[in-house]
Amino acid sequence: MIINNSKFECTAVYPKQYPTNNYPEIALLGRSNVGKSSFINSMLNRKNLARVGSKPGKTRVINFYNVNDKMFFVDLPGYGYAKVCKTDRMEWQGWIEEYLLNREQIRMLILLVDIRHEPSVDDKIMYNWLMSRNVNHAIVANKLDKIPRSQVKKDLSILRAGFAINEDIDIVPYSSKTKNGANEVWNLIKKEVEF
Ligand code: GTP
Ligand code: MG
Repeated sequence: MIINNSKFECTAVYPKQYPTNNYPEIALLGRSNVGKSSFINSMLNRKNLARVGSKPGKTRVINFYNVNDKMFFVDLPGYGYAKVCKTDRMEWQGWIEEYLLNREQIRMLILLVDIRHEPSVDDKIMYNWLMSRNVNHAIVANKLDKIPRSQVKKDLSILRAGFAINEDIDIVPYSSKTKNGANEVWNLIKKEVEF
């Protein structure tokens, strides 16, 4: 995939702050610290476009990244971040849900998980919600660089079993560090977005 141009477009919480052009949107979902922001940087060959954190809870708003003036990657705050106080958490969920439920431009949702771990309860809730909603989705298993090659197959089947999905649904092993898997994910995106 040739990226001629990638840039930060805008930050939003409420719908009136979303971009007004109608580009298709590919949104990232996943636990805090799983690497959603890093994933966007690696797919775009950028080091610091999306801000990455060493502690969970780095992304606290919805960030739109413009790719080739053709689509947006949408970086969402992660779930399962315990330090957000309860009131904050309720409100936070409300405006993320608003985006996920009502934004017509969403062309694909990418659920990012950590290849080393079984899906969490929140991951499963998110996956079931994805299945119930009629929108294209993909599961990407990040941090591939952290496990030995011999472990990949086993970890993917643990994830599959955790989500109760069968062999014909792909889970793409990925590393934001080495960019392993980027071509596979771009091929999935290119099925949905015309470049
Ligand atoms: P929130 O914004 O809190 O929801 O987190 P996030 O999902 O955006 O995670 P972020 O991209 O900020 O990354 C969290 C940490 O994981 C950072 O220290 C990254 O450097 C690291 N990380 C992300 N992806 C990878 C990967 O593929 N391999 C390795 N080794 N580290 C990764
Ligand atoms: Mg982030």
